[in-house]
Amino acid sequence: MLRIGIIACGKIAQVRHIPEYLSNPDSTVVAYYDLDEKRAAEVASRFGGRVYASVEELLADPTIDAVSICAANAYHAELTIKALRAGKHVLCEKPMAIRYEDCEAMTGVARMTGKRLLIGQNQRFAKAHVTARQLIRDGEIGRVLTFRSTFGHGGPETWSITPGAATWFFDKKLAAMGAMADLGIHKTDLLRFLLDQDVIRVSARLSTLDKRGPDSKLISVDDNAMCIYEMSGGTMGTMTASWTYYGAEDNSTVLYGTKGIMRIYDDPAHSIVITYRDGSRRELDLEAIQTNDNQTSSGVIDEFVSAVLSGRSSVLDADDVIRSMRAVFAALRSAEEGRTVETLV
Ligand SMILES: NC(=O)c1ccc[n+]([C@@H]2O[C@H](COP(=O)([O-])OP(=O)(O)OC[C@H]3O[C@@H](n4cnc5c(N)ncnc54)[C@H](O)[C@@H]3O)[C@@H](O)[C@H]2O)c1
Repeated sequence: MLRIGIIACGKIAQVRHIPEYLSNPDSTVVAYYDLDEKRAAEVASRFGGRVYASVEELLADPTIDAVSICAANAYHAELTIKALRAGKHVLCEKPMAIRYEDCEAMTGVARMTGKRLLIGQNQRFAKAHVTARQLIRDGEIGRVLTFRSTFGHGGPETWSITPGAATWFFDKKLAAMGAMADLGIHKTDLLRFLLDQDVIRVSARLSTLDKRGPDSKLISVDDNAMCIYEMSGGTMGTMTASWTYYGAEDNSTVLYGTKGIMRIYDDPAHSIVITYRDGSRRELDLEAIQTNDNQTSSGVIDEFVSAVLSGRSSVLDADDVIRSMRAVFAALRSAEEGRTVETLV
């Protein structure tokens, strides 16, 4: 039985991490810490377990085996490294960290301590993505030539546990990036996962078009990100992330191959639709993707528990996800410098 501590008790901890640990027969949640002590106490009284006055106190408890890091982006690296050094396995939320050096420090400390470090890239567990990956490997649409992938919704200000224009998601010091960190990392990571290829070259534009803070000024992080990715296997395409898709979420990926087109979460009626070169069609009905308003089991927590207890490798291992972060940081550099950036050099 894995005994879990929750570090930061906001929305994702409450709707995903805590309930999913509690419904897993091999894990239980025993400890909570949040900068907002009242929030930690409220969560502990709802789900059961003890509140700690500091992260150090929680990490010093030898009865805790592993922690989930669910804090604002800027704290992921510091908290993860502290937890690994204290001998805990770590499941850290995305984005892994806000600087590439921090990602490297995190994987370095995980290797040094021999503790597991997994990153919560839940799109890798969405059923249509798992099936699509296998179909692509089986050659269902031939060689994938191009793609377009997008993740957008109306913004995080209605999602956060402290909603409104003052949300930390809009604060450059705490979030570092906007739609790119919040949503772009998901699709960047997904494309690597689906295609089994790395992003090798990026041309990106990031912009703040519409979101305003409490002072009515445009926020200091991007609310839209548009990237052209060139992949190691020769495939190329676009990845867009947006906080200004008002009215409905778009979480779709379309892959254009030599034998046909695969649409994933693009047709509201079917999770995957394949249109072959001769015009024939195959429809697969798996499940609706999770949205902010429809939280189904992510699979991430079960994966973490199972990987830690069995010692097997995981598709969420930080050593792999760090390669997605390379692409994200290359995109930021490309946007800042107004040029195409090589990712892997
Ligand atoms: N995998 C996903 O799909 C997904 C979805 C949503 C959020 N997230 C990630 O989860 C993280 C948290 O997001 P959220 O939606 O829960 O935000 P939130 O605003 O709802 O909650 C954040 C919580 O973290 C606490 N906190 C912030 N810094 C802290 C620190 N240093 N120590 C302790 N507590 C701290 C705050 O007090 C608050 O309770 C973010 O990094 C976000 O990117 C991932």
